[in-house]
Amino acid sequence: MIYKKNKLTIDGFDIGTLVKKYKTPIYCYSDKKIKKNIQNFKNHFKNFNPLICYAVKANSNLGILKELKKNNLGADVVSKGELMKALKAGVNPKKIVFSGVGKINEEIEYAINKNILLINAESKSEILEIEKIAKKKRKIVNIGIRLNPNTDAKTLSQISTGKKENKFGVNQKVFLELVKLVKKSKNLYLKCLSVHIGSQILNHTPYQNMLKVISKIIKKSKYNFEYIDLGGGMGIDYDHKNSYLDFKKYSENIKKFLKIHHCKIIFEPGRSIVGNSGVLITKIIYIKEGFKKDFVIIDAAMNDLMRPALYGAKHKIMPMKKFSKISKKIYEFVGPICESTDTFGSFKNYQKLAEKDYLVICDVGAYGMSLSSNYNVRPKPLELLLKNSKMKILNKRQKISDLM
Ligand code: LLP
Repeated sequence: MIYKKNKLTIDGFDIGTLVKKYKTPIYCYSDKKIKKNIQNFKNHFKNFNPLICYAVKANSNLGILKELKKNNLGADVVSKGELMKALKAGVNPKKIVFSGVGKINEEIEYAINKNILLINAESKSEILEIEKIAKKKRKIVNIGIRLNPNTDAKTLSQISTGKKENKFGVNQKVFLELVKLVKKSKNLYLKCLSVHIGSQILNHTPYQNMLKVISKIIKKSKYNFEYIDLGGGMGIDYDHKNSYLDFKKYSENIKKFLKIHHCKIIFEPGRSIVGNSGVLITKIIYIKEGFKKDFVIIDAAMNDLMRPALYGAKHKIMPMKKFSKISKKIYEFVGPICESTDTFGSFKNYQKLAEKDYLVICDVGAYGMSLSSNYNVRPKPLELLLKNSKMKILNKRQKISDLM
């Protein structure tokens, strides 16, 4: 996102031309950014050539999934719907892992029928359910067991998943019991130990701690796991202050780990692949004077982008046209929804804005559209992909008539 002659551009494409053609709000993704992110990700870990299973929940747009598939990524799915979409995009079933604490019978059956690489189970009951279905189908099903390593990911508490108070995975004691249980099964084949400690992680030490826990438990289990699935969670630079995860350290720690444990690594990145590839373009409807600040009321709302309302997440917001005049007032950007959490944050010393100006909310490629809803009976936005200097429609704006 850079200004050219004071106009905001994505990969050299003037955003102003989009708002002339389409109504806002608009999600717009950059194919170039996605490819660059994939390349960076692969480069960081090229020494051990991991299997990269993109976490579909971050952005499940079929057009995006097809681009990821072209770049040879696999998929991490958490529902039958996500699995169907990954397969529809052409992802190889042998590169698909199925995570989640509450897979229902129908989902397990579908995954088994499609011969996916692994079902990562998260409880004894789930393992028994998979075994029952596998037996009925006279099949041997490859599974993983998700360990809860009780590691603090040092991220927002709402997106932490690897601490003992979180619902995910099983503790070490149960893990060891389940290894024994699966070893005895005729219809299950234990291939993987999986973990995922949280999301938007910018500090490499939680990963280091997690690896130590995994290493210990593997030794205790005396089992040769073919795969270790380390999950995703790699954070991105939302505040645009060069806050990055130290991939080099993470990679070095994994290399050390692999010297002791000979297995193939799986990653499930979502945000780090698509997060910074997307923007949400929005128009200012009204500006209203408040008590100590001005409310800038925009046509995008918490139903379009839920992260600020749900986690207090901050996204950089840039004016589509740059002017040098600065407002003396504090601006709070808010949506039209009848909730006080429908806010995108307050900003001081922002450029002076006017009604009908356009703004661009940055870094919404992950958990933007995928978390959107029809709250207040608002149709979901248009989605565009910029590829080879051409704008392609990935998904039309919903019609209100679709919601009746
Ligand atoms: N694997 C598993 C098992 C997961 O639960 C998740 C994310 C991922 C991989 C991908 O994590 P990532 O690389 O994207 O951090 N809605 C929240 C994020 C929730 C993440 C849920 N699980 C947000 O907007 O920040």
